[in-house]
Amino acid sequence: TSTSSYTVQNRSYHRDDWSNAPPVILSKIGRNLHLTPNHPISILRGIIESHFAEHTSVTPSTPIVSVYQNFDELGFAPDHPGRSLTDSYYLNREHMLRTHTSAHEVETYRSGLDAWLLSADVYRRDEIDSSHYPVFHQMEGTQVWPTTSLHELQKRNAELAKQLADCPLVIEDPTTISDSNPYQASHDPEHAAQITQHLKHSLNGLIFRLFGHTTQDGEPLKVRWIEAFFPFTTPSYEVEVWWNGEWLELLGCGVVMQKTLDQAGVSHKSGWAFGLGLERIAMVLFSIPDIRLFWSTDSRFLSQFREGEITTFKPYSRYPPCYKDMSFWVSPKQQAAVAASGSGTARVESRASAWERESGDNGGKEAGVSTAGGLEPSATTATTTTPVGGKDKAFHENDYCEIVREVAGDLVETVTLIDEFTHPKTGRQSKAYRINYRSMDRSLSNEEVNALHAQVQDRLVADMGIEIR
Ligand code: PHE
Repeated sequence: TSTSSYTVQNRSYHRDDWSNAPPVILSKIGRNLHLTPNHPISILRGIIESHFAEHTSVTPSTPIVSVYQNFDELGFAPDHPGRSLTDSYYLNREHMLRTHTSAHEVETYRSGLDAWLLSADVYRRDEIDSSHYPVFHQMEGTQVWPTTSLHELQKRNAELAKQLADCPLVIEDPTTISDSNPYQASHDPEHAAQITQHLKHSLNGLIFRLFGHTTQDGEPLKVRWIEAFFPFTTPSYEVEVWWNGEWLELLGCGVVMQKTLDQAGVSHKSGWAFGLGLERIAMVLFSIPDIRLFWSTDSRFLSQFREGEITTFKPYSRYPPCYKDMSFWVSPKQQAAVAASGSGTARVESRASAWERESGDNGGKEAGVSTAGGLEPSATTATTTTPVGGKDKAFHENDYCEIVREVAGDLVETVTLIDEFTHPKTGRQSKAYRINYRSMDRSLSNEEVNALHAQVQDRLVADMGIEIR
C-alpha cells in the first residue's frame, strides 16, 4: 500500500495525505449486486423500477466521483461531518467513493431526463455488525416538471389520491412544512405544495407496493412522514413504515433545491427526489438476517431467489462463530488527540440524517438535524480540514474496525466494545473489543482464527499504536 497511486478500473489516481481507501474495499468495485440477476438487491431494484414505470433507469459506470460532486455541488458545508476521513473513503483530496447516489443528481438532471431512477453501490466507513457493511446499495429517484406544469400536477395528484384511497394504508403526516422545513423562497408555495403532494403520493404508493402484502388481515399498513434535513432538498422528510412492532426508516426525500437544478442548467424545472437503501429494505422483505449474506457466492443463498418475487429466505445451517477478545491501552498520542478534539466519536454522533446508515436496523436515532446548512458550493472543499492520519489522530472505532476488516475480510462478523476504563492513577485509557469471526461458507478452525486474530492484532499495534494488555 506504499505505492504513490491507485489504479482502479484502468484509471490511475495519485495518492496524497487524504488517501484512505483500502484494497479490500476497492476490490468490491464491479461486483454490482444491484445488477446481478436473481440477487435480492437486484430483485428489489427491479420491483421499484416496475412501480415507477415511466422513470428511466440509470446506472453509473464507476463509484468514483469527485469530492465536489459528492458534497459541494449538493450544498454540503465545508465542515459537514460526513466529509471526515473516519466516515468516507478517499482516493485523494479530489476523488472519493460516492457515499450516496445523490452524487449523480446534477449530471443526471443535466442529461435532460425528467423522471429517473439511479441505482448504485455506495461506500461508507462504519462499525461492523449484522446490518452494517462498508459497501451497500442505494436507489435515487426523482421527477421534475417545467415550472409551467402546475395544472398538470394538480390533475395527476387527484388521480393518485384516488388510487391510494383504495389501499388499506394509514399515513401519519403531522406537518408538511414548518419554519425549520420551509418551501423554497424562489418557489410559488402553491406549486411547491403540489410537488410535495406528488412526492408523498408516489412514495406512499411505492411503500404500499413493497410492504402492503405483509400486514395481517384487515390491518392497514402504517407509514409516517417525519421532518428531516438534507442540504439539497427543502422541504425534506424521512419516511418510516411500521414493521414488526417498530418504526423502520426507509428513505430520505424532499423537494429538490432549485440551486441543484440551476447547476444542471435546467432552472425552468422543479421537482422532488428520494434516496433509499436497498439492503435495509431487502433484509426485511426477504428475511435476510446478516448483511454479509448479500455478498455470498454460496449457491445455498443465491439459488433461493427469483427475479420479480419477494420470497422468505430459508436459513441454511451456519458455520459456528469463534470470538476473540482484545484488551489494549489507547496510544498516549491518540489519547492526547481525543482530549484536544473533545471526543473521537463525537463526529459519528453528530452525523446528520443524510449520514445515517441506510442499511442499519439499530434504531438508535442520530440527531437528524445538521446545523451546517451552508448552501454555497465551497471552492475550498476538503482542503479546509486538516488530515488526521496514523497514530496521532484521536482513536476512532471506525479506524479500528477498518483495520480488522482489512486483515480478516468477510470472516469478521461483529466487532463490539465490551469494556472501557481510564486508569485512576496513570490516566491511561483502556478498551476491550470482542471480535467475532465466522465464515459464511466453511468451518473455521480455532488455530486458523488464532493466527488470523494475531495478524489483526499486529496490524492494529503497528497502525494505531495501541498497546496490548
Ligand atoms: N442521499 C440521502 C442519503 O443518503 C438521501 C436523499 C436522497 C435525501 C434524495 C433527499 C433526497 O441519506
